[in-house]
Amino acid sequence: MSRNPQKIVFDAVAKYGSGREAVVQILTEINRELGYIPEESIVAVADAVGVSNAEIYSVISFYSFFSTEPRGRNIIRLCTTISCEMKGSREILETIEAELGIKAGATTPDGRITLETTSCIGLCDQAPAILVNDTPHTRLTPDETRRIIAGLE
Ligand code: FES
Repeated sequence: MSRNPQKIVFDAVAKYGSGREAVVQILTEINRELGYIPEESIVAVADAVGVSNAEIYSVISFYSFFSTEPRGRNIIRLCTTISCEMKGSREILETIEAELGIKAGATTPDGRITLETTSCIGLCDQAPAILVNDTPHTRLTPDETRRIIAGLE
């Protein structure tokens, strides 16, 4: 069961401090615990740090790994930048979308997997590449991609 959002903010502020420089770390903690950053947490972080809610939203929108929407238990991030594109990321995207029955940006109805596209993740020499819950998978083929998806709980 997820922890209380207010308690997560309280604990993160105790750990990282309440200065502006701690905002990204606090938000990272919330995102990791809950899988997303709910509005009540945004208000609580803004209060704790002494900035406006808009400033917290602006930090969240800057970093692609933050979300204000609930996401799946697993998150697949597919790189669609040029090296991966040239090595077949489109085919991998189509494979994942077909396997899951959803488009990029969506979550499966059972809450199992969220599919996102991302810019370069630094694995260009091993393209095409994805991150599955922050674990990299590289030189993907459609078969390997299907195998990875089948192994997700
Ligand atoms: S272009 Fe895909 S990892 Fe760099």
